[in-house]
Amino acid sequence: MTKKISIAIDGPAAAGKSTVARIVADQLSYIYIDTGAMYRALTYTALESGTDIHDEEQLCHLLKNIQIELKQENGRQAVLVDGENVTMEIRASEVTNSVSVVAAHRTVREELVCRQQELGKQGGVVMDGRDIGTKVLPQAELKIFLLASVDIRARRRHKENLEKGYPSDLEQLKKEIMLRDQSDTEREVSPLKKAEDAIEIDTSALSVEEVVERITAMAKERIEQP
Ligand code: CDP
Ligand code: CDP
Repeated sequence: MTKKISIAIDGPAAAGKSTVARIVADQLSYIYIDTGAMYRALTYTALESGTDIHDEEQLCHLLKNIQIELKQENGRQAVLVDGENVTMEIRASEVTNSVSVVAAHRTVREELVCRQQELGKQGGVVMDGRDIGTKVLPQAELKIFLLASVDIRARRRHKENLEKGYPSDLEQLKKEIMLRDQSDTEREVSPLKKAEDAIEIDTSALSVEEVVERITAMAKERIEQP
């Protein structure tokens, strides 16, 4: 039987984590888990229900009472909260601009990390986020830290928005990405940080295909190791 490893992919906003993680998972027939979508789903639900995102106790109470599901639908990942499909809604700018506040609360992270570890416990997963290599899957056989300059990351997001027909302002995007990076790196609980044993890939000058190829090759080496 082939060994099923765990792959952790971390890095700052718009470094290409989810695009690359999804393809790598597909090529290895592994499960892809987008942990950012879970923080986004909670943020969306909090905003919709009028929960104060600065109130840790209220947020944690809300989280304990909702079911967040990540489902594979037609090759894409759908996000459901209590059965309602919120895949599009969780990408709205209101959610993006509040999610780092929600993700900074200790008890919220404890609960979501627990759910993520449960999802990843069988191996055969590619999980992306900010603390996968350091906290969620510290035993992962392959840890990747994706990087790219902030200019390139903002331009990638801008292009993506325009392709989807969404309004987009490059300078505004850059500011938002820098703010989110700062909040994610400076928070007290599980800040965005490269795990000591993670392999750093600067994707600034690389295509999606090139990044995927590098990660898949490293994954195969580890899968084939006796
Ligand atoms: O895709 P993008 O880089 O915009 O972000 P995401 O992966 O959807 O994550 C949204 C936010 O959730 C991040 O900016 C972090 O504040 C938080 N997050 C986190 O704290 N830990 C994770 N494992 C994943 C996301
Ligand atoms: O998940 P994360 O926020 O790290 O980034 P993403 O949503 O996967 O990627 C942001 C955009 O960058 C997507 O449109 C990708 O196609 C693009 N990208 C790229 O142009 N070159 C790469 N090497 C990686 C991603």
